[in-house]
Amino acid sequence: PRHLLGIEGLSAEQLVPFLDLAESYALLSRSRSAPRDALRGRTVINLFYEDSTRTRTSFELAGKRLGADVINMSVATSSVNKGETLLDTAATLNAMRCDLLVVRHAQSGAPALLSQKVEASVVNAGDGTHEHPTQALLDALTIRRHFGRLEGLTVAICGDVGHSRVARSNIHLLTAFGNKVRLAGPPTLLPGAMAELGDVELYSDMDKALEGADVVMSLRLQKERMGAGLVPSAREYFRFFGLDRRRLALAKPGALVMHPGPMNRGVEIASDVADSDQSVISEQVEMGVAVRMAVLDRLSRARMPV
Ligand code: CP
Repeated sequence: PRHLLGIEGLSAEQLVPFLDLAESYALLSRSRSAPRDALRGRTVINLFYEDSTRTRTSFELAGKRLGADVINMSVATSSVNKGETLLDTAATLNAMRCDLLVVRHAQSGAPALLSQKVEASVVNAGDGTHEHPTQALLDALTIRRHFGRLEGLTVAICGDVGHSRVARSNIHLLTAFGNKVRLAGPPTLLPGAMAELGDVELYSDMDKALEGADVVMSLRLQKERMGAGLVPSAREYFRFFGLDRRRLALAKPGALVMHPGPMNRGVEIASDVADSDQSVISEQVEMGVAVRMAVLDRLSRARMPV
């Protein structure tokens, strides 16, 4: 593909090559021997209209490890503040002949819109409540490394699922590979529209959702996407939906604990669970760099030679 805008509509066969290439980049990164010429002569621009720690940094590292020129556009100090539209900003960057445009935006569909207007390959780095495809790929790679497979597993995705682009992309990916997906959270944060996402089970009882799960994914409360007065109190939320030791014991022994970050300890996840032997949160971050190397590499190959 020329762009990576979402996981929806991609088959397991289309996704496996990204995971396989990322796996090899993970091994090369550990031995500090990534091929620094894979993206030589290419320009990657990170255009982030929303905050990010992991995604922006890992796209930057991924591009640099493969020899690309990487520019981080600081939206806060750009002409966006003088009223320039998203499309005009993108057209400006396109005129500079950038090859890969990595976009995060609060508006669902913004990267797809840009992909129709620019010659660069566009990568969705998170758009509103819609999708975060590279997060789902890095989660999938982390799971596959632990289980040796990516099918036949039961994955509980817990918390503010309704606002979560991470959940959406993961649901599309995990169901495409034939896994069972359970969504757990307060009914107000589990909109009925989730049913349109396919074969998922909804739980308002977190304990039931965790019973026998192979993987437990915890999600942050996205207060920035909630209306005033609709934010649950942290204490009460933790009591009913926090992932603590007692709840985790309901999952399969050794079940993986995952969180895309940023975490709010003591709200959706207990600190000791986040730091436990079952937690693969740091590995997710490591796989994030490898997955973004694979995505930049594959999209770059789909373009004309430099
Ligand atoms: N998981 C994730 O997207 O983290 P950042 O918001 O820090 O990029």
